[in-house]
Amino acid sequence: MPLKAWFPTFIYCDKLQPKGLAKFNDELAAECAQLRDYDEAGRKWSEKNYPGGYTSYASMHELHHFSSTFGGLEKKLTKHVRAYAKALDMDLRGREIHMTDCWVNIMPPTAAHSLHLHPLSFISGTYYVRTPKGCSGLKFEDPRLSKFMAAPPKLADAHEANRAYTTYAAEAGNVILFESWLRHEVAANRVDDERISISFNYAWR
Ligand code: NI
Repeated sequence: MPLKAWFPTFIYCDKLQPKGLAKFNDELAAECAQLRDYDEAGRKWSEKNYPGGYTSYASMHELHHFSSTFGGLEKKLTKHVRAYAKALDMDLRGREIHMTDCWVNIMPPTAAHSLHLHPLSFISGTYYVRTPKGCSGLKFEDPRLSKFMAAPPKLADAHEANRAYTTYAAEAGNVILFESWLRHEVAANRVDDERISISFNYAWR
């Protein structure tokens, strides 16, 4: 075919580290639960803005500065973010990247997170701590969707790269990275157990 793809949207997904994930995730899960118990302002905010679930997004969103466990996670994640930025050919010579925000999301049954993007950062992502079997994945939307004017619908068996949405399964120990402008959502958790993830943003200077 005389075809070539241009302007692709890359999404990164990899294991955080080759070994020791179960132990590290146990430590993180314990801290996430402690945080929810402690963070009254966050619980209040979540009641209104994150129905059914808990997020520290509006109350404690710099966890990498307050906890050595989260600080350790930051170090591990930064390696992945660098690899991703390199694959995107971003010129970071003589520049620094840094985590600006890092927050916890606990989603019991029914909790959902509707379509959004992450302002004020260039790379964002999620790390999965607890993912009960069958819990919702991370769904991304084709960033050109708002520009489609008269395109016919896609075939049901369209090549995966040509679909308007793609969903990455949530898997404990995996880190998913995307450019911060890429809209995404998490459908309602339909599993009778808590799904725990940690989201984060990176900026450069
Ligand atoms: Ni998000």
